[in-house]
Amino acid sequence: MELPEDLRYALELELSTLSPKRLAKLASELSDRYRTGKQTGRKSFIESQGDVDAYAAFRMPATFAAVYSVLKQVQEGLPDWNPQTLLDAGAGPGTVMWAVAAIYNDLNSITLLEREECMIALGKKLAKHASSISIQKAEWVKTDITNIWETTSHDIVTASYVLGELNEQHRNAFLKKLWMLTRGTLIIIEPGTPAGFSRIKQAREQLINEGGLLIAPCPHNLSCPMAIDNWCHFYQRLSRSRLHRQIKAGELSYEDEKFSFIAVSRKMGEAVSGRILRHPQIRKGHIEFEVCCSEGISKRIITRKDKELFRNAKNLSWGSILPPRK
Ligand SMILES: C[S@@+](CC[C@H](N)C(=O)[O-])C[C@H]1O[C@@H](n2cnc3c(N)ncnc32)[C@H](O)[C@@H]1O
Repeated sequence: MELPEDLRYALELELSTLSPKRLAKLASELSDRYRTGKQTGRKSFIESQGDVDAYAAFRMPATFAAVYSVLKQVQEGLPDWNPQTLLDAGAGPGTVMWAVAAIYNDLNSITLLEREECMIALGKKLAKHASSISIQKAEWVKTDITNIWETTSHDIVTASYVLGELNEQHRNAFLKKLWMLTRGTLIIIEPGTPAGFSRIKQAREQLINEGGLLIAPCPHNLSCPMAIDNWCHFYQRLSRSRLHRQIKAGELSYEDEKFSFIAVSRKMGEAVSGRILRHPQIRKGHIEFEVCCSEGISKRIITRKDKELFRNAKNLSWGSILPPRK
């Protein structure tokens, strides 16, 4: 996928005066901090203008891709849902609102909670170039989500790549609060790593206990069948920006952002018979799928004999819904 034209332009403009060499160094330091979870001598992962620039250049496009892909799954689960209000906690430069506005264009209010002033400043600058009026008019609230904060309930509530920056105690209270403020659907996204999935799995349990109904990716509300040494994740392919390609010369022209997530709603979504968990294996005369369904995780084989199913199965990919057995 490509970034929306207006976001791509806004990012290019914002980053146009920066030295690619310096950005590459800052991005590599930022990525080390995220990977190791260590932030020696700092109070948070992102606190300087340099960190924000690196985030804008290298992480914002990838997280946009993840959020967009998640929203597509949510849309499949709730095809008639048309949210009007968005609350995004730990908003960074506003990545989520760009993806939400790209899919739901009827939004009439967006509220973004963020602790770092430099992130808010970047978010506001990017938003000026948005074609969506709701993005331009989004309300930015500087707040620490681990402290006391108040807002009204919203149709769509999100926390994207945020749980990993909170300790376990804060995480539980934060999720409880987000669910309380959710009128429609709460979406939590984390990196598609074992650690990211483990946070998603815990959040899933907590939100089911609070009465949440899974919309995606899970096809059921039962306990998660994923083996302890495995992790449920998806990916979205995204074309790299000119700057990205310039810095990663000789490397691929795209990147695959891997993510884990849950979307939990107050109302039931469409019934999902099974979710494909890996790349389908195309063999001679049949296709093998690894699928999560209410009976657990299993292999499903569709053979050429099943003409129509086989023809449709060729278009399915990792993350797709597998049609029910006839
Ligand atoms: C990895 S970034 C994700 C940003 C954005 N949600 C995205 O998907 O691109 C995490 C964001 O959470 C913010 N954050 C972390 N802890 C926070 C807190 N206690 N209160 C408010 N924001 C916080 C950080 O400042 C940062 O902007």
